[in-house]
Amino acid sequence: MGEAIHVRMYRDEDLPAVLNLLRASLGESPLLQRTAELFQWKHIDNPFGRSVMLVAEVDDTVVGLRTFMQWQLDYGADIIRCGRAVDTATHPGYVRRGIFRRLTMEALDVARDIGIQLIFNTPNERSRAGYLTMGWSDVGPVRVLVRPHPTRLLRGGHKQFPNLDELVPMATPFESDSRLAAEIADWGLADGSNHRGLRTPRSTSYLRWRFAGHPTARYGAVVRSAGTAVLRANLRKGRSELVISDALGPNPTEAIRSAVRISKADYDVAVFPPGSPGRRAARGAGMLTVPGIAALRLVARPVDVLEIDVLNTKSWRLALSDVELL
Ligand SMILES: CC(C)(COP(=O)(O)OP(=O)(O)OC[C@H]1O[C@@H](n2cnc3c(N)ncnc32)[C@H](O)[C@@H]1OP(=O)(O)O)[C@@H](O)C(=O)NCCC(=O)NCCS
Repeated sequence: MGEAIHVRMYRDEDLPAVLNLLRASLGESPLLQRTAELFQWKHIDNPFGRSVMLVAEVDDTVVGLRTFMQWQLDYGADIIRCGRAVDTATHPGYVRRGIFRRLTMEALDVARDIGIQLIFNTPNERSRAGYLTMGWSDVGPVRVLVRPHPTRLLRGGHKQFPNLDELVPMATPFESDSRLAAEIADWGLADGSNHRGLRTPRSTSYLRWRFAGHPTARYGAVVRSAGTAVLRANLRKGRSELVISDALGPNPTEAIRSAVRISKADYDVAVFPPGSPGRRAARGAGMLTVPGIAALRLVARPVDVLEIDVLNTKSWRLALSDVELL
């Protein structure tokens, strides 16, 4: 067990070994298959740029992976270049030997060299402990808004993954809606709020990649005159879930209200920051914050000196589409 660990940049020919490592270490679910297409979408085709990717080898076998997706967050007129710490894995036979630590510290140097100013992520419990020993700080919980449909929740659970068409028959596929594309271009980056806060700029190229181009998750839209709700279906613990992934445009009230009214899911779920039009719309549609429930915890690590207090949860304005990559 004393073999030398060699760290180097990821090369395209590492892909099969890296996918096997991700499967062995993180597992797979019906919604999250570790396919080459998903890896390509996430780490190569991303409009913010190719990910920083490092691997660890023992005897020419890949036993560790560390990736930072390149990202951008706006804060008012300021643009912050970010990395998203995702897809970190150490082969189960090589854990607790410092591989995650070494890969992460070396990846931070690469990130700094290419101008990344801030790393953020929502780690699981296992890796979170490690991040907190490497200069990351806890920003806080990502609070969800939920609307249960009690009569449906009382019915038995589901086994099959639901289609969005079943949950919201009126939703149009994100990719084929040309009116949506035109409206997004018109709405530009605005979310109709005067608050400043860290959020992904919703450029047309970003939205196309994020929602229309996703290789595994199918997104739909409910489009109304001043706003659009971006939706996907999910199955969680035998319950069908309507995920309101994003709200676009200056006033998504009608779009979100229609989606929730029509929803045939067991419950609907969303994340919108306080004071945002999406939050107002979700509350107006009967969605509630559930105290104590936070599916995710946000952590961050400045790589550069930043004037924004990135460790204060009030500096962030995230929707579900900003934190998850499904
Ligand atoms: C989490 C994971 C990446 C850690 O990899 P690793 O190479 O074993 O980690 P390291 O040996 O570099 O540990 C670095 C620090 O992380 C923390 N850590 C690692 N594994 C931990 C665990 N199981 N429980 C608590 N803390 C842990 C410790 O602080 C550790 O430092 P220490 O050993 O000096 O106490 C690895 O267990 C793994 O691949 N897990 C499955 C995939 C996964 O969960 N990835 C995270 C996705 S967000």
